[in-house]
Amino acid sequence: TIRPAILCGGSGERLWPLSRKDNPKPFHKLVTGRTLFEDTLLRSAGEGDGVAFSAPLIVAGEAILDPVTKGLASAGVKAEAIALEPAGRNTAAAALLAARLAQQSDGEDALVLLAPSDHHIGPLDAFRRSVAKAARLAAEGRIVVFGIAPTRAETGYGYIRAGETLAGGFILEAFEEKPDAAAAQRYLDAGDRYWNAGLFAFRADVLIAEMARFEPQILECVDAALAFVETADGVVRPGRDGFLAAPSLPLDIAVMERTDRAAMVPAEFGWSDIGAWQSLADLAEGDARGVKRQGDAVAIDCADSYLRGEGVTVAALGVSGLTVVATPDAVLVADSNRAADIKTLLAELREQG
Ligand code: GDD
Ligand code: MG
Repeated sequence: TIRPAILCGGSGERLWPLSRKDNPKPFHKLVTGRTLFEDTLLRSAGEGDGVAFSAPLIVAGEAILDPVTKGLASAGVKAEAIALEPAGRNTAAAALLAARLAQQSDGEDALVLLAPSDHHIGPLDAFRRSVAKAARLAAEGRIVVFGIAPTRAETGYGYIRAGETLAGGFILEAFEEKPDAAAAQRYLDAGDRYWNAGLFAFRADVLIAEMARFEPQILECVDAALAFVETADGVVRPGRDGFLAAPSLPLDIAVMERTDRAAMVPAEFGWSDIGAWQSLADLAEGDARGVKRQGDAVAIDCADSYLRGEGVTVAALGVSGLTVVATPDAVLVADSNRAADIKTLLAELREQG
């Protein structure tokens, strides 16, 4: 069996005004009738297609315990433990928390699937088949990532070059996290790279050994934090001072760019990290003129637009090329070509208080 460890940390800012700090992206029904978090829990539960999942570990920010608890309840999933970070120290520290807790449950060589909670993945059987392959390589001591065939020169992802063949995958020959635009374009043109999907399968002892080698300070801090842990009702609170002293680094840079124990399984599943409103528009069903409506939205004589009303109605007349997302207290109106650029807008909003 493999222990899912589900990460809920990032703010998902680019899905403003729906995604907010106290109710971020994983906890919204963005694509299916369930939230991304619930879909993530259900995808990595039970047995079938060559893989058996045990009860999940959740690693989340202290501020979102409430939506996490509610999401577990509505998915009908009982967590093995919920680890609460006093503040986010990025995914290297979160992965170590997961690895240590998995060891407490399953022993030194616990098998872990570290998974983000804000992605859309399917179909289910294809996902599970890929995880089964990754689990076998992980059991042999590999740190396994999942490769996606790139479709654009995206700079927000990790890029992977595959090497020699392994059963079910490849040795990972090179990993580069978030290359600049020129490099991303080169990789796309060369056609010899994969995107990193952001899920990791590993043995806890292997990940910890690699962290001890490359980022011993993060390991020390996480272990120090776990020495002063408070536990109640399955909720684990690592010591604040220890944890906050951990350097803040993504796992991709802390380990994946440096380790020689990595492998890649080409993903058989469809994947979107829903990084911006455009990705949701891409997943949505449109009318003949390319108008995509979600939630409560009405459109007359519109074209090529994404219109979403959440708790309020969006009514559009004769517009094209727009992204409109309305919530009870804020409305986004953007040229669809610029909808990925929300960070600039948010910075301005913050400045105005
Ligand atoms: N618990 C916890 N604590 N979770 C965190 C933290 C943290 O401090 N920081 C990030 N996360 C969670 C996020 O919520 C998300 O689910 C996942 O970890 C990845 O973090 P992101 O911040 O979304 O990373 P990214 O999208 O920039 O890059 C990663 O994902 C790409 C694919 O979507 C990398 O793994 C890339 O290589 C990859 O291509
Ligand atoms: Mg992400």
